[in-house]
Amino acid sequence: MIRVPELIERKRDGGELSSDELVQLMLGYAKGEIPDYQLAAFCMAVYFKGLSSAETYALTDALIRTGETVDLHGALGRKVVDKHSTGGVGDKTSIAVGPIVAACGVPFGKMSGRGLGHTGGTLDKLESIPGFRVELTTEEFIDQVRSVGLAIVGATADLVPADKKLYALRDVTATVDSYSLIAASIMSKKIAGGADAIVLDVKVGDGAFMKARADAERLADVMIDLGRRAGREVVAVISDMDEPLGHAVGNALEIREAIATLKGEGPSDFVQLVVEASTQLLVLSDLGLSREQAHGRVEQALADGSALAAYERWIAAQGGNPDEAALPSAPVVREVTARRAGYVRSLGAVQVGNAALRLGAGRRAKDDRIDHAVGIVSRKKRGDAVAVGDALAEIHAHDEQSAEVAADEVLAAYEIADDEPQERSVILDVIAA
Ligand code: URA
Repeated sequence: MIRVPELIERKRDGGELSSDELVQLMLGYAKGEIPDYQLAAFCMAVYFKGLSSAETYALTDALIRTGETVDLHGALGRKVVDKHSTGGVGDKTSIAVGPIVAACGVPFGKMSGRGLGHTGGTLDKLESIPGFRVELTTEEFIDQVRSVGLAIVGATADLVPADKKLYALRDVTATVDSYSLIAASIMSKKIAGGADAIVLDVKVGDGAFMKARADAERLADVMIDLGRRAGREVVAVISDMDEPLGHAVGNALEIREAIATLKGEGPSDFVQLVVEASTQLLVLSDLGLSREQAHGRVEQALADGSALAAYERWIAAQGGNPDEAALPSAPVVREVTARRAGYVRSLGAVQVGNAALRLGAGRRAKDDRIDHAVGIVSRKKRGDAVAVGDALAEIHAHDEQSAEVAADEVLAAYEIADDEPQERSVILDVIAA
């Protein structure tokens, strides 16, 4: 039997824990036998002293052992791929990537999360589609990946239950932003979720957990190593999150943008990331494609309408109405106009995310109801020239008052300068094992 104070003390003093100790710690915590205050002290010790690569893997494995695992490969008899983002503003990438990959004949099974703070969550976005069910049983999830080639669902309560408790504890004990803890938290869910190959979209910048590129690359390396140890292939795309991704921020608005992208009419930064993530997933798949061939297939699925058809099949299979006209619209739409001429130097992702949150697109408290119709559509982004009076953005709001508050916040999020800023790609790097 472990003595928890002794483990905390050893970690606090920079010592190493065994995998058996970490398993007992996580199982005891998941069962409620070890209290929050001891885990809080443990997380703080890890925050300051870190975990070795063996310990990070042992913690990931210990988290997985607290719940059920899904064997997608065994159930389908072939390689299944998945994608995960570390979280950002306007990030609807999976909603376009899933149908593209499925249209190319590669099974895509993903368990997703809800919004956190200023960042949106894929499940909340999907729930703006009338009728769409995010809560499928594990059997329904597997059946749908088999029959439709694509499912995106909420993680069941039994998938890594210790992470659910631990994440909530870290959120209120200033221990979220530790590489080892983030990597173990994300990868435990990805490994338990059953995909063989995973593309990680590691965001960096104002709107991301990792503000500096070196930190994002280090996090990516740790997650790739965890995947390798668990026998999963992992590729990390390091992408820019200084400004919101694409134009739309807000649930139904983002679904519309994902549909536009599948029709070949998406905003350039979003299209670039969607095409890169899809290409990487096809390269990792069992189709045996080179990067050039995979890229060609992705472009073809977008051009010939098969990705859009896969989207419609997927949404209908989960009970949703795939017709764009069925999505909710906000009653008030208000323009934000430029007060000065120049070039957009920056559009703060956190400010835009927070403005959308206050409009009702996200939750401030755990049980808040989301207004799926509201949000922000930017018309100008970094590098765009603006004249006085040009529309910078649109606010989609429930009423005039909240539209006015959001308009001020969004205007403040724009930095307009005299000089044209240097062009920057949304994809900063791609790291493979
Ligand atoms: N997302 C997760 O699932 N866990 C973390 O720790 C951070 C982001």
